[in-house]
Amino acid sequence: MSQTLSPNLQSEDDNETLRYESKYANLISYNLDINRAMVSFQSSKHSPIHRWFKYREGYSEALVKYYIKKLSVKPGKCLDPFAGSGTTAFASSQFGFDNTLIELLPIGNFIIKVKISAHSANQLEVISHIRSFILEKPWKRFEYSQINYINITKKAFSLENDVEIGKFQTYTNTLPKILKDIYDIALLSILESISFTRKDGQYLRWDARSGKSLGNFHKGAILSFEEAIVSKLKDIADDLDKEFGLFGEIYKDNDIGKIDVLEGSCLKIMPQLKEDDYELVFTSPPYANRYDYTRTYALELALLGCNDAEIKELRQTMLSCTVENRKKNLINMNPDWRGPSEYAENHPLVVQLIKRLNEKAAHGNLNNVNIIGMLENYIREMACIIYEGYRLLKDGGYFVMVNDNVRYSGLDIPIDLILSEIASYCGFKVVQIDALPIHKGNSSQQMGEHGKSSLRKCVYIWRKP
Ligand SMILES: C[S@@+](CC[C@H](N)C(=O)[O-])C[C@H]1O[C@@H](n2cnc3c(N)ncnc32)[C@H](O)[C@@H]1O
Repeated sequence: MSQTLSPNLQSEDDNETLRYESKYANLISYNLDINRAMVSFQSSKHSPIHRWFKYREGYSEALVKYYIKKLSVKPGKCLDPFAGSGTTAFASSQFGFDNTLIELLPIGNFIIKVKISAHSANQLEVISHIRSFILEKPWKRFEYSQINYINITKKAFSLENDVEIGKFQTYTNTLPKILKDIYDIALLSILESISFTRKDGQYLRWDARSGKSLGNFHKGAILSFEEAIVSKLKDIADDLDKEFGLFGEIYKDNDIGKIDVLEGSCLKIMPQLKEDDYELVFTSPPYANRYDYTRTYALELALLGCNDAEIKELRQTMLSCTVENRKKNLINMNPDWRGPSEYAENHPLVVQLIKRLNEKAAHGNLNNVNIIGMLENYIREMACIIYEGYRLLKDGGYFVMVNDNVRYSGLDIPIDLILSEIASYCGFKVVQIDALPIHKGNSSQQMGEHGKSSLRKCVYIWRKP
């Protein structure tokens, strides 16, 4: 189904937005085969292994499989430079793709590694260990060891849950690696549910019962460590018990591709990879929406051993998507990036949008002026990623990206059009921009101020000719 999707235009001043909306009108259409559940964690809630840790920013295996089939990409090498919990690789390896995953945050890397090792573990032994663990509750007999906090996670747990976590960690330190990994992922998966916090995109929201916040937010039930860990481990044992193995139905007919995991920033790692080597780049970067992964995953990062300084460093190394990100010296990182980054910052659509935001800021209508720098940095850094994606792909290879448009102070920022312009500059052919049929609404605050309209959430399909 093809339909022009109208942008949220403000005034005659939006001529550049109009111009590019009409330039891409024939390439953007609703795709009724995909839905919000597929591009979010929702579809993975019940899928074996993926449900162990709720990586909220993840998409589903179904989405990756759908596009591999739709585009008839022949197995070869697949790259995901923003790997998160590794969904791309777990899906594409079922078609025989060998995968390179790049992920910066220790939490994503840990999830990916445990998922990989769970596939090769002796599943019956793990299941039997979990079953006796549930019956015998062995951690209770172990000494308490101090758990690691950082400034923003202090007071996150009740005293009882803190003690249980400390004893559990002493216990899991005595286990062989594969078992320790499985118990550790179970622990990381329940942290939010046993804490006074809730992940809220930009930050951790604190429940009034923590004594840490003056607000009156109540997150609902806070589980005891014991009930939460037992329930999580039951799920894990059930998944390991699945008849056809963890790779699902395709497993029987295909060779599974391998998965290499590279820890660090894709801005640093992508330039080190070999050119013309990949059939597919399939990814979803952080959106330009101010979500701060280092804050929302602070409980998990702290338990994985990160300290305050390391977390600050991770925040600055991430793709710029929060108002705290400082400008990265991209040309210093790679002189080849001068072209794409200058193209991006001088693109007429970008220039106009930044001008509009500056005007809003001058009139006190932008709730944080650093949003402007964040957007400039985001677009420049994405230009370098797209440039690298082009370099790494073989001729005929596809770059598939899931991303959301954003809105600040009522002004729509068409990330899909901006990044597709950059992709064309880098040499890609923009094949299609699939929009999700149901649009994301505004926050209630924005709806009040700017009226109700929708933001596009899309899957971009670019091809190296
Ligand atoms: C939208 S999530 C990807 C989710 C993934 N598709 C999945 O299904 O789990 C974006 C990821 O990019 C990672 N990231 C942000 N900046 C990065 C960088 N410079 N290098 C590598 N990874 C980065 C974040 O930590 C996050 O896990």
